[in-house]
Amino acid sequence: MSTADALFGGQPYQGYAYSYPHKTAYRAFEPDLDLREVWAGEDRSALFLYAHVPFCVQRCAFCNLFTTAQGGREREEAYLQGLVRQAEVVREALPDARFAVGAVGGGTPTWLEAPGLDRLFDVLEHTMGAPLADLPLSVECSPETVTPEKADLLARRGTTRASIGIQSFVEQEARGVGRTQRDMTVQTALQALRDAGIPTLNIDLIYGLRHQTPASWQHSLECTLEWRPEEIYLYPLYVRPLTGLGRRDRTWDDQRLALYRQGRDLLRSVGYEQVSMRMFRAPWAPVAPTDYRCQADGMVGLGPGARSYTRDVHYSTRFAVGPSAVLDELDGWLDRSDADHLRIRWGTRIDADEARRRHVLQGLLQIDGLDRAWYRELFGADVLDHLPELERLGDLATFGDRLTLTDEGLAWSDAIGPWLYSDAVTARMAEWEQR
Ligand SMILES: C[S@@+](CC[C@H](N)C(=O)[O-])C[C@H]1O[C@@H](n2cnc3c(N)ncnc32)[C@H](O)[C@@H]1O
Ligand code: SF4
Repeated sequence: MSTADALFGGQPYQGYAYSYPHKTAYRAFEPDLDLREVWAGEDRSALFLYAHVPFCVQRCAFCNLFTTAQGGREREEAYLQGLVRQAEVVREALPDARFAVGAVGGGTPTWLEAPGLDRLFDVLEHTMGAPLADLPLSVECSPETVTPEKADLLARRGTTRASIGIQSFVEQEARGVGRTQRDMTVQTALQALRDAGIPTLNIDLIYGLRHQTPASWQHSLECTLEWRPEEIYLYPLYVRPLTGLGRRDRTWDDQRLALYRQGRDLLRSVGYEQVSMRMFRAPWAPVAPTDYRCQADGMVGLGPGARSYTRDVHYSTRFAVGPSAVLDELDGWLDRSDADHLRIRWGTRIDADEARRRHVLQGLLQIDGLDRAWYRELFGADVLDHLPELERLGDLATFGDRLTLTDEGLAWSDAIGPWLYSDAVTARMAEWEQR
């Protein structure tokens, strides 16, 4: 039996550890917390500023992000006014905050009309004081919402990375997960982003879709490469109980593993560097200089669904996936008063054990692995003293000055990640009530 089969019951796709702890592990703070007190002892010299836009043209069948396709244009205005209000309150509470990185995500930020997008950038730049022209700024978009006008606006406002979800260049595969994009629309959107001259273009693809074959996956990969994107993300398809799809079987796991290897091998063969299980970077991708170090620095999130964190506290609005729960949460945020924006009601505390696990997850799941000397410097012991179970990774990892995953280990990242979650976080995620 292989190490992966023994450790993970042969299941490579257990969860994507893009943030730890996941928002399904957040709970109500009782009593609630004061924003200024939570940030009081923090270094605020190089923070990450994030704005969440919880709107999309469609709700893709697989998607478990906090977003709605039923926002309606009337909510666009209310959302922008709410964002200004929240930003004013947060800025007043953290007047000395300096930002070293910015991102606008969602949802689909380019769902906003061009004047609305412009106002959103004004909030980041003028209300929050983030120097957009001088920092790495990433914006997510979707094919149907990018116009040449919006692409130019993104570039003009300092966007250094535009990330677009294509998922599949085969219309039928995209339709199968509720995406209505036509091939023409995809090409027009990509051309608009290229013409605008945004330095980094990232394309997201998904493998494991219904009807997808090695040949159709190859087609999507080759269509992607024609655009010479600086970054490519390959996501294994996940389904969640409330997202309209529902499958879990060995054949599907094997299909995803095979498509992963096919995609990885193709991208590497044409010169892309693998950064993690999902991320691939072209040799011509610009390297954006930044003072921000995500293991050490904090994030200020604006908008419903945005996550914020300090060293000790992670918080957001209450997580939701189901359409009516998302709308309830969104409308609750729109109704917030200034005083409400100062209260932190939902999140989790990060104790020493959670901080160590988070650090390990952030290092180990990247190609360069975990720097053991840095770990010792931060946490006062070798990582194997704190988490001896890591030795059980056996041939999935190498144990030198850095703890790194082998190629096979990287392929099993989505099992290794959840395996490193604390028992408390695992239990809270399992108990999270689907809504
Ligand atoms: C915010 S979206 C990207 C921008 C835009 N909303 C779009 O979909 O075109 C984030 C990305 O996460 C990936 N993703 C989200 N949920 C997923 C799931 N359940 N399985 C696989 N990939 C997923 C998709 O590739 C998607 O492009
Ligand atoms: S995948 Fe993108 S477009 Fe689809 S629902 Fe999720 S955030 Fe919206």
